[in-house]
Amino acid sequence: MSEQPTTAADESAETTSYMRKIRSFVLREGRLTKAQKLALEQHWPAMGVEFKPELLDLATLFGRKADTVLEIGFGMGKSLVQMAAAAPEKNFIGIEVHRPGVGACLADAAAAGISNLRVFQHDAVEVLAQMIPDNSLTTIQLFFPDPWPKKKHHKRRIVQADFVQQLRSKLAIGGVFHMATDWQHYAEHMLEVMQAAEGFSNLSASNDYVERPTHRPVTKFELRGKKLGHGVWDLMFKREH
Ligand SMILES: C[S@@+](CC[C@H](N)C(=O)[O-])C[C@H]1O[C@@H](n2cnc3c(N)ncnc32)[C@H](O)[C@@H]1O
Repeated sequence: MSEQPTTAADESAETTSYMRKIRSFVLREGRLTKAQKLALEQHWPAMGVEFKPELLDLATLFGRKADTVLEIGFGMGKSLVQMAAAAPEKNFIGIEVHRPGVGACLADAAAAGISNLRVFQHDAVEVLAQMIPDNSLTTIQLFFPDPWPKKKHHKRRIVQADFVQQLRSKLAIGGVFHMATDWQHYAEHMLEVMQAAEGFSNLSASNDYVERPTHRPVTKFELRGKKLGHGVWDLMFKREH
C-alpha cells in the first residue's frame, strides 16, 4: 500500500487552518513529576475520558443519573476535587489541557477516594462542542481563566459572545454559568459579554458581581493573585430559556 504523497500545498493549507484557530491557551510542555506520571498510569483508566468527536452518554459515563457540574481549565484540580468530595450526590467533569495538571488532579482525586469525577485532557471548547449533550449540565464553572491582558491577545479570552451561547445550549434550563477572575479588566469584559447575552439572567442583585459562594473553594491562582494584591470577582448567570 502506498500513502498519498503530501504536497507542500497540502502542508501549507493544514498549517494555515491550524493557525487560523484562535485558542485560549498555549500548550506548555511542563515536565510530569513522578507522582503525576504514576497517577496518570494508575487512575486514567477509571477517571480519564479520551476525546472523540461523538456525544457522550453521561448516565453511562458515571453509572448513574445525577446533576452534573463541568469545570473548564481546572489547573491542578485542587478546588475541583474539593468540590467533588463535598458533593458526592453530583457528577463532576473536569477539562484541562495541561497534562501535569491532569496528573495532579487524578492523584488528589484518588487520595480523596472519590468516584464522581471524570477528567479530559483536551481543549474544553472542542469537548463542549462535540461531546457534551445539549441541556445536560447543572453548572459550568470557569475559575481564573487565562486573562490574556494585552489588547492584541484579547481575542484569545475564552469568554466571548459565541462561546457563552454554546455554553447556554449545554446548560439545562435553570443551570448556572459561574465565573471568577482576579483581573478587573477581564471581570468587566465577562460582565459586558454576559449582560448582552441572550437567554441568561444575572444572579447578582446589583446586576454585576456576587460574593464568592461558600461552595467555591479558594483556588491556587486566586491565592497567588491575592498575594499580588488583586481583587476577586465572581459572576453567576442562570440560563432562563
Ligand atoms: C490561570 S489557570 C487557572 C487554573 C485553576 N482554575 C485555578 O484557579 O487555579 C487557567 C487554566 O486553564 C487552562 N485552559 C485554558 N484554556 C483551556 C481550554 N480551552 N481547555 C482546557 N483548559 C484550558 C490552562 O491550561 C490553565 O491551566
